[in-house]
Amino acid sequence: MPTVKDKIEELRSKNRKAKLGGGVQRIDAQHQAGKLTAHERLEILYDNNFYEELYQFAHHNATAFGMNEKELPGDGVVTSVGAIRGRLVYTSSQDFTVMGGSVGGIHAWKICQIMDMALKAGAPYIAINDSGGARIQEGVDSLRGYGRIFYYNTLLSGVVPQISIIAGPCAGGAAYSPALMDFIIMVKNTGQMFIAGPEVIKEATGEIISAEELGGAFAQASQSGNVHFIADNDHQAIAIAQTLLSYLPANNTEDPPSLPSEELTLIEDESLNRIVPDDSREPYNMYDILQRVFDPGTLFEVHSHYARNMICTFARLNGRVVGVVANQPMEKFGAIDIDASDKSSRFIRFCNAFNIPLISFVDVPGFLPGVEQEFGGIIRHGAKMLFSFSAATVPKISVVVRKAYGGAYLAMSAKSLGADRVAAWPTAEIAVMGAEGAVSVLFKNDIKSAADPKAKRKELIEQYKEQFETPYVAASKGLVDAVIEPKQTRTYLSVALESLRNKRDLRPQKKHGLIPL
Ligand code: HXC
Repeated sequence: MPTVKDKIEELRSKNRKAKLGGGVQRIDAQHQAGKLTAHERLEILYDNNFYEELYQFAHHNATAFGMNEKELPGDGVVTSVGAIRGRLVYTSSQDFTVMGGSVGGIHAWKICQIMDMALKAGAPYIAINDSGGARIQEGVDSLRGYGRIFYYNTLLSGVVPQISIIAGPCAGGAAYSPALMDFIIMVKNTGQMFIAGPEVIKEATGEIISAEELGGAFAQASQSGNVHFIADNDHQAIAIAQTLLSYLPANNTEDPPSLPSEELTLIEDESLNRIVPDDSREPYNMYDILQRVFDPGTLFEVHSHYARNMICTFARLNGRVVGVVANQPMEKFGAIDIDASDKSSRFIRFCNAFNIPLISFVDVPGFLPGVEQEFGGIIRHGAKMLFSFSAATVPKISVVVRKAYGGAYLAMSAKSLGADRVAAWPTAEIAVMGAEGAVSVLFKNDIKSAADPKAKRKELIEQYKEQFETPYVAASKGLVDAVIEPKQTRTYLSVALESLRNKRDLRPQKKHGLIPL
């Protein structure tokens, strides 16, 4: 009869075996491929390399295709809970060494269990993806499992932050779980995602493309916008997830974590007065403004490779987390196109869901004109920005730096869309449309009948600019609360943010609004 000591030794031996996943050879292969194992990733992710593994001994119950003889430790996924910088986080980490991290019924069940725990505990959920997709031997059981994962991703959405790290293959329908989460971090070279791979595409359309060109980190970050952050390796991907979490509350009932320095530092940075060029057609770099206004070193940009004409970044102001949406005049003159609308709308909605105040920096000549944009649905996509800012109930503050024209100005969080504070720099041009366009419509006949139509048009444009391309008309009508010197921006925002600390904006109850998707 086994003694207690024997039983304890048996447990230890089982634990050791489970930790080895698919065995030493496959772990070596994983390392040779430039990847860490599921457990190694968790050790780096959690404080003190400590985490509690749940369902370590869960085992598949498949029998077809010789599965009854297959032992799959943990069923190819490590599910766990631990602390990151002292805050609770739940994680699933797919184990590629165990049948390619393929998703069987029990594998999917474990992931759903951990998501359910995250939901009930009000703690973020991280999924580390490294998987060959649906476990082919388990057929529809696998498919049902994916369906449940998608269902839980949806339940968690807007309640706790969800972060996906793609550190291996993530192809076919499997890619929809990361797509349903809030942020995707992808590792260069090892991480890949696509619905149909290069072979299928070649057969279907004749197009030839490599897997990396199609589904690699850069392609998915810059072309499709599926990926929010690119990492050089697993270590960096995990560091990005940790930093990202430091800006986020644990759930939608909490405020984001403030840093200890809560005091207002009302510093005036003279160099801000010199950033906007005299010629309003000349671009400048919006980052030069943001870096001077927010706490040093706190800009943490999302989607930096995608729709670069719109900057979406987390930042801190006197230690408090804010979400910043800013036009970038260096790209497409800061005009808003389809991709910029989608990118910013998603960011705005994320910030609103998780109680992160929104600050806009406006320098927008308009929505980007073009047949491609019109046929692509810029009306519907641009409407997402109007909808997102109007629906957001967190504190909303705008700074009009320079151009603010037409509907695009409204889309950047104007007073009439519910912005709580709007400041304008003296360089602001707030108007319904640009001088050239306005003059052509208003003075068509005067220009035609003038002795020198060209000179007349020029004169009228100058007159229009003087009168309307300033912040003062908008300020006289209460669309702007204050015209400030650029150097006063940090002070203005600090006071505004502080005065909105307890903002309440209650809306009529409804199931959900109907954002034009
Ligand atoms: C069962 C799988 C598997 C899978 C990999 N393996 N994917 N077993 N089901 N989906 C097994 C392999 O047989 C192999 O087992 C081990 O995992 C490692 O795989 P390798 O091929 O040796 O690794 P590698 O060369 O790195 O290639 C990785 C890979 C490739 C690119 C992911 O394995 C692959 O193409 N797998 C199939 C992908 C796929 O078609 N998945 C199903 C898609 S359908 P041994 O024992 O030989 O070491 C789908 C629908 C989801 O996902 C729908 C959701 C809505």
